[in-house]
Amino acid sequence: MNLPPGPRAMSELIKMLVQRRQHPIKLYESIFKKYGDIVYFKFGPYGFVMLNDAEATEQILLTDAKNYTKSTGYERFKLIVGNGLLVSEGDTWKKQRRLLTGVFSSKNIEKFYPIMVQESLKMMQRWKVNQEVDLAEEMNLVTLQIISFSLFGKDQFSDSKIVRSSLQEMLSYLQTTRHLWIQLLLSSFPIGNKRAKALAIEKSLPLKSTKKFFGAIQNIDKLVNGMIEERIQKGQKENLLDSLISVTDSTDQSQMNKEQLRDEVVNLLIAGHETTANALTWTWQQILRYPDVMKKVMEEVNSVISGETPSYEELTKLVYLKATFEESMRLFPPFWRISRRNMVPTKIKNFDIPQGTNVIASIYTLHRNPAYWEDPLSFRPERFINSESIKKNAYIPFGAGPRSCIGAHFATLEALTILAICLKNTQMTLLSPEDPAYFMSLTLQPKEGCKVRIEGWTKK
Ligand code: HEM
Repeated sequence: MNLPPGPRAMSELIKMLVQRRQHPIKLYESIFKKYGDIVYFKFGPYGFVMLNDAEATEQILLTDAKNYTKSTGYERFKLIVGNGLLVSEGDTWKKQRRLLTGVFSSKNIEKFYPIMVQESLKMMQRWKVNQEVDLAEEMNLVTLQIISFSLFGKDQFSDSKIVRSSLQEMLSYLQTTRHLWIQLLLSSFPIGNKRAKALAIEKSLPLKSTKKFFGAIQNIDKLVNGMIEERIQKGQKENLLDSLISVTDSTDQSQMNKEQLRDEVVNLLIAGHETTANALTWTWQQILRYPDVMKKVMEEVNSVISGETPSYEELTKLVYLKATFEESMRLFPPFWRISRRNMVPTKIKNFDIPQGTNVIASIYTLHRNPAYWEDPLSFRPERFINSESIKKNAYIPFGAGPRSCIGAHFATLEALTILAICLKNTQMTLLSPEDPAYFMSLTLQPKEGCKVRIEGWTKK
């Protein structure tokens, strides 16, 4: 068998485990440096492949996608999102993807633009001159408000603090190393559709943290199920949840049942805010760090936007701002890796990959790989203005292939709206270090947030 090169000695594997905990990216970088861009290793019975190669990544996500499922990490995620789109497989996923593609069409998403504008303005109105603000916190809050209002409708959703703390509690529970081991052990017994049974097993584990985790799940379920009942009763067509309730499958005319609705709503709450918030925080960090970028962004914003807020048409003309957002997601991709598992023996390039291997596409290092990017560490939005030369699948912040992000358009529209409105109306300076330490969980975040001082208003 022609396996990819990689660490084989137990002592090296143990060192890797320790390093993974301290600084996963340094581990990834050192592994690729030592063994090349396709690496294989085994922990006990579990095989892993790591990819830092655009063609190999394309193979697992696109050309050979039918031979891969989401990996064991996503399996445990089912405890939270049940059978939502992010984690479902097979026919269930196909059907849900068909239904949600219509709901997330550009035309449908544009309807939520006024919510994006209004929530950006509301956030800004909370700020005072000379106040120190953590943009990481602010971006988290505003994106959660936007996805909540888009889902449930304005003025109907006043519990976003509970939602936020519950979502954070649930995510952090799934991310600790101790649970990673549970995750590996449980991977032999896939949760599949049996969320209730899996939750019952998990609940019986003698861990303090499980109690908090289950409290958080209960809070979210209560809120979301209540909202579903209410919107079904109202029978209106005003928000995303209404669209989810009423969307009909063109092949068999079926609609989602309440359980499926719950799973998709929780899925969208989770997938739809933290990633965008992190992408925005990193973009602010770059704009505030590089005066030449700030100058160009401001020139564009001031020449394109005539009023306090951009019209939808004006927003589409902010080409340099969009490129700044894209370049920021190149260097700091919120989803910094994507993982899959092959259901049959596969080949990646000329290597043999045994069945059941966890294959990790390392987006962070791929986006910085000098084989694809000139001067990869410098921040240059211009790359995305003349983007023809970017190698296919060397830039995949929203994933690639059939399982790529369904919310990419929503996220981009939302991010440009928030950036444009704040840039047009406020002046701020960066207080956090220019090159902040990372916190790497499911998403990549600046460890200490992004602290700024509000210097004043351009127009108030
Ligand atoms: C900048 C913000 C965002 C980034 C970087 C991002 C990134 C991604 C990536 C990389 C995937 C693929 C994961 C994989 O292949 O395993 C994904 C999937 C997904 N995203 Fe996003 N996302 C963002 C915003 C959003 C938003 C705003 C929503 C919804 C409102 C959303 C909903 C989803 C869903 C439902 C999936 C699963 C799609 C499927 O498996 O068919 N995302 N996202």
